[in-house]
Amino acid sequence: MHIIHEKEILENLLSAKRKAGKKIGLVPTMGALHTGHLSLVEKANTTADVVVISIFVNPTQFNNQNDLANYPRTLEKDSELLAHHYPDCIIFAPSEQTMYSDQLQANTYEFGPLANYMEGQFRQGHFDGVGTIVNKLLRLVKPDFAFFGEKDYQQLLIIKKLVEIEKLPVTIIPCSISREKNGLARSSRNELLTTEQRERASLIFQSLQDVKQEFGTKSVIELSGEIEKKFKNSAILKLEYFIIANAETLEPAKKIETGTKYRAFIAAYAGEVRLIDNMALN
Ligand code: PAF
Repeated sequence: MHIIHEKEILENLLSAKRKAGKKIGLVPTMGALHTGHLSLVEKANTTADVVVISIFVNPTQFNNQNDLANYPRTLEKDSELLAHHYPDCIIFAPSEQTMYSDQLQANTYEFGPLANYMEGQFRQGHFDGVGTIVNKLLRLVKPDFAFFGEKDYQQLLIIKKLVEIEKLPVTIIPCSISREKNGLARSSRNELLTTEQRERASLIFQSLQDVKQEFGTKSVIELSGEIEKKFKNSAILKLEYFIIANAETLEPAKKIETGTKYRAFIAAYAGEVRLIDNMALN
């Protein structure tokens, strides 16, 4: 396994692989790897010949400095985990200076309505930061395939849009949400939860499942009211948003139209820890 910190070394290694006819897969991460990440790496491993996992906590996508400071950084543990499961993979773990030089700044993108709601609304500037770093990584690694989890479904659609805007020759592969036993979507942030918070955070998944079950029998307003009530009754979880949105445009639904795909989205806090999840409804 290679652990590379410098761009030039990565470029030289990948260019040799490309010349040998190898297909390259990129799994961008911010580290603190868990089973969810491993499922992305697994998909990359079965799709591409060479798998690059980038590990970089990207400062420009954090709108909250506390969140950035508290984000788990566990490169040694991450490397051991990858070496154990995927001994042939390449880890790219650059420094801030390597990725941004002296300009720690995000580009501004026109993602349109995709970025107007949910994470785009509650985390100002977040998607410009994500777009900036993913654009840099895709231009550097030049992968044939790049893998993104559906837990960050809005991010996934934004990345597809980014690839269109930047005209990048890469196929974006969505990967389904990996869940803990109680249904909680796997996330690096789960490590920051107390045992009780982690147990009770299953309310997010349960709520999404309830909505899915009742979808089509109740109005959006009724469903939203029920979810708000569930979270009001929770001593542990504080709801930030619950939205049923068009699964393609991500515009919040007021009325359900036949022939349109919908998804439900939740963001909630357990103490200081912000958790998100989503589920296809039809
Ligand atoms: O999903 C993430 O972990 C990050 O947003 C990503 C795509 C690695 C960009 O920093």
